[in-house]
Amino acid sequence: MKGNGTFFVKFGNGKRQHGARPASSGEALYAACCLLPAALTACCLLRFTASCLLQIAADPKSKRMWVQEGDELVAVEGESTEGSKERFGQLVQALGDKPTVKLTFSRKKKGPVMVMFPDGSFRTSPRIAKLKRVAEAAGYESGCTCKTGLCGNCWFRDPSTGEIYVLPLNIPGVVPSLWRAAGEYGLRPGEGEYENWIPLRLERAPDAYEVAMEQENIRRSGINKRLEERGLEGI
Ligand code: FES
Repeated sequence: MKGNGTFFVKFGNGKRQHGARPASSGEALYAACCLLPAALTACCLLRFTASCLLQIAADPKSKRMWVQEGDELVAVEGESTEGSKERFGQLVQALGDKPTVKLTFSRKKKGPVMVMFPDGSFRTSPRIAKLKRVAEAAGYESGCTCKTGLCGNCWFRDPSTGEIYVLPLNIPGVVPSLWRAAGEYGLRPGEGEYENWIPLRLERAPDAYEVAMEQENIRRSGINKRLEERGLEGI
């Protein structure tokens, strides 16, 4: 399993350094799905993420969660961190020899999305990053070298939703079928948002590419036939 490289977990949002931080409508609180060793490090959290992602990928319906970049650590064993790294240190020290610890995190609804690629590499991505770039950043060799989206290498499917993602055209934060259906007018703010409580898992989808190309060929031959009837050049 490849990792993200650097892994960050936020302590508070920089605005509220004191006082308990309640979940607002745009956030969700969740408890760590596994118990972590008490000696917490970024490395430890990264291994934790990788192991949870593997379990979630194996069973997408399981009610498990994982930790990702940008998540906010709000409590240790039910005690609030009060948005403070120092307070977190105190809470961890107070754990003594406890072999495991329960952490509670908060994640913004419109925050980054975890993207998983077929070789097991993964990356926490901004919602509006092109998936081609996310693949590069994750170290996944997709083979995508152009921007047209017309090459078979670049078509992927999320097996849990059946949604088709084309690496140079789609972004993790928007559901592709809704984006395509919106056509030239585009989606309105808040429409077609991908929920980041679920990792976006991508598998190659050569079958979807073939079907799409067949449909495209039929469409083009229909247009060409009509152009020909008018004595015009085809496309
Ligand atoms: S190589 Fe052409 S769209 Fe990816």
